[in-house]
Amino acid sequence: MRIDIITVLPDLLKSPFEGSIMKRAIEKELVEVHFHNLRDYTTNKQKSVDDYQYGGGAGMVMNVQPIDDCILDLKSQRNYDEIIYMTPDGSTLNQKMANSMSMYENIIILCGHYKGVDQRVRDLHITKEISIGDYVLSGGEIGAIVFCDAIIRLIPGVLSDETSALTDSFQDNLLSPPIYTRPAEYKGMKVPDILLSGNFAKIEEWREEKALEHTKNRRPDLLE
Ligand code: ADE
Repeated sequence: MRIDIITVLPDLLKSPFEGSIMKRAIEKELVEVHFHNLRDYTTNKQKSVDDYQYGGGAGMVMNVQPIDDCILDLKSQRNYDEIIYMTPDGSTLNQKMANSMSMYENIIILCGHYKGVDQRVRDLHITKEISIGDYVLSGGEIGAIVFCDAIIRLIPGVLSDETSALTDSFQDNLLSPPIYTRPAEYKGMKVPDILLSGNFAKIEEWREEKALEHTKNRRPDLLE
């Protein structure tokens, strides 16, 4: 997968890709991430990328020209499965969306700032709008990092134990059951006997029961 990220803050974006799972995916050459600084595409001397809103109103709006030029430049080099705009009024990201988008070959992610982008950017180029939750961030960069992490870890070969992504919370509309590691007893608190029994059929049954109980308590909406 190749991910092209368009941003006014490339430095803010880089470090999450330099550690942990995303770094490993890049080292294994399963993912390429390219950062494009929007200011490199401006045609004005001040390199400004935003302006006042027509019609009045608080907050600046990102200009169409540098974004259009940047996206056209990228599109002239390859085909993209999706051109994504990170925005609080997009579709809320969930595991099902992450699963399907982890299969893309090339995507562009546009990070918004200030009030957002000129509507003509959306009309011209954007094929999908994604929000990471019902709250407003100062820019799309953090959302882009969240989105990239969610899809990259699902690319086959990225996680060393591939079954571990399959048993994540949400993968089957259930939250994960409780998990334990050594020691078997800590400050009088014991690991449930069943997990030490070696009876894998029973363990699986226990996990399913606990996952259901946990989901009922915490996220009954997932079971509807
Ligand atoms: N940009 C600002 N807020 C956002 C959100 N909640 N999700 C994605 N991008 C955003």
